[in-house]
Amino acid sequence: MCGIVGYIGTKEAALIILDGLAKLEYRGYDSAGMAIFDGEKIRISKSVGRLKVLESETCGGKTMRGTVGIGHTRWATHGVPSKTNAHPHFNRQETICVVHNGIIENYIALRKKLADRGYEFVSDTDTEVVAHLLDYYYKGNPLEAITKVLHRVEGSYALGVMFAQHPDQLFAVRKDSPLIVGQNEDGCYIASDVPAILKYTRNVYYVDNQEIVRLRGDHMHFYTVDEEELKKEAVYIDWDANAAEKAGYEHFMLKEMYEQPKTVMDTLSPRIRENDIVIEEFEMPDEQLRQIKKIHIVACGSAYHAGVTGKYVLESLARIPVEVDLASEFRYRDPILEEGAMVIVISQSGETADTLAALREAKSRGFRVLGIVNVVGSSIAREADSVMYTWAGPEIAVATTKAYSGQLTALYLLAMKFAKVRNTVTEAEFEELLDSLKRLPDQIELLLGSKERIQRFANRYVGAKDIFFVGRGIDYAISLEGSLKLKEISYIHSEAYAAGELKHGTISLIEEGTLVAVVATQQHLYPKTISNMVEVKARGAFVLAVTNEGNHDIEKVADYVIYIPKTHPLFANSLAIVPLQLFGYYVAVGKGCDVDKPRNLAKSVTVE
Ligand code: AGP
Repeated sequence: MCGIVGYIGTKEAALIILDGLAKLEYRGYDSAGMAIFDGEKIRISKSVGRLKVLESETCGGKTMRGTVGIGHTRWATHGVPSKTNAHPHFNRQETICVVHNGIIENYIALRKKLADRGYEFVSDTDTEVVAHLLDYYYKGNPLEAITKVLHRVEGSYALGVMFAQHPDQLFAVRKDSPLIVGQNEDGCYIASDVPAILKYTRNVYYVDNQEIVRLRGDHMHFYTVDEEELKKEAVYIDWDANAAEKAGYEHFMLKEMYEQPKTVMDTLSPRIRENDIVIEEFEMPDEQLRQIKKIHIVACGSAYHAGVTGKYVLESLARIPVEVDLASEFRYRDPILEEGAMVIVISQSGETADTLAALREAKSRGFRVLGIVNVVGSSIAREADSVMYTWAGPEIAVATTKAYSGQLTALYLLAMKFAKVRNTVTEAEFEELLDSLKRLPDQIELLLGSKERIQRFANRYVGAKDIFFVGRGIDYAISLEGSLKLKEISYIHSEAYAAGELKHGTISLIEEGTLVAVVATQQHLYPKTISNMVEVKARGAFVLAVTNEGNHDIEKVADYVIYIPKTHPLFANSLAIVPLQLFGYYVAVGKGCDVDKPRNLAKSVTVE
């Protein structure tokens, strides 16, 4: 995933581009670059490393004067992070340049065809092919050249394009990778995501697939890939601009952990009405809900882990069989979707390529798809048959926390809605569930208050080599997320295991002092989980236990215990995750890792 910003208007473009790219660095940050038309020609500056390198090399943009430009922060897919591979990319005469987010799937074939026609390539990127293809088709009409290129390239792309012979225009093009445009009295803007231009305008246009936007200093025109002009409606963004800032926290991740109570509340409150669950956006009549015979949940990463929790909750409450798939597997395994099935895709960004492809696969087979999404107006939100937002607001840290908690909450609501309609819970059980649900925000808040204690414990493990997370049933689901949180930001190897499965091989990895985090919140599985603790203790493990208040006998076995407040067992993941998030965060901080922008990662993986 990469970040794109473009500007054309009356102001200095470089300052606007650098400011916008800084808001998009979470999308990719191994190299950066920008191109500015200086009145005579297009000048490009590129750098390896964080955006601040480019800022310093261009004196904060002051050495790149001009009012038209495009910029890019890169998360490398083709070609190592280097100045040569950084965007923008030029054609050979340096009269056309392009920035790109996505993957040109057929770039090798196109590169060969262009090379056979004498084109020389300086980079290893797929993007450079677009610059030369634009050169190949450009005969004086930029829009025509662009549409011809779009008929040739395959794959995903969000493009910003500049033509030196048309300095009064800038072009934005989109297929699958997100792109928005906006306008204010100073000019017109291109961006991969809202935070980059929110300070300039709250009225944005989401560019749809295979649409082209021609931006001038004071207006924009939209076209189809066949050069037919389009009319589009702006979307008003009511985000609080501060939401995209750190608000005094050391890292976005910590800030977003502390926003979890609000996220859970904001996801719940519009859907709890007079002690009932109302999910308006899920336009499926009760009778149709009763007909659902199976649910397929499809997602990636933490969203997948939320789906694993969703399986336990939906099957337990609504007695509907649930199958959970990794999106990258689902889309290629020719899944068996029977009549009466429905598909739920879960995605914070709403732009994850694998999840979007899984959605399209399910829809192509005629199945209804519900999207549980955080980013309003994202591709998945717009292509799903119905969408249930998680209302977490912008999540900037690469490691998801509040959006994950929002996903759990949305799945609880869905399970309760299904259970109510299908009469698989009694009135009393429903009320107990509702009461537990409403108490979650305060209980999360309470757990966040124990961060100092967890920080002290985490500091002991900054040098750890392997850390295991185990649990049974829904505790296994949260172990998956706890393990991912730790490894993706601290770079310490970690695995999550079903506690009962450890003895079938992996227990051989347990050595003297190996930390094993055991989640034991499911009372009906508690004795078995205690046995698993004894098993790893016998091999020298140091056991961190996360369990319910009152289970003090666990202190006879565990070496360190974190208690969570009592809640309905099916909602325990929403509480158990808090100490696990804090643990992973403080281990990473203790190691001096860049918590918000971990190496090799990007906030949303919009490529395969
Ligand atoms: C989670 O901390 C990771 N950032 C990653 O696993 C993420 O959950 C996954 O890439 C899915 O992203 P999405 O929710 O935006 O689709």
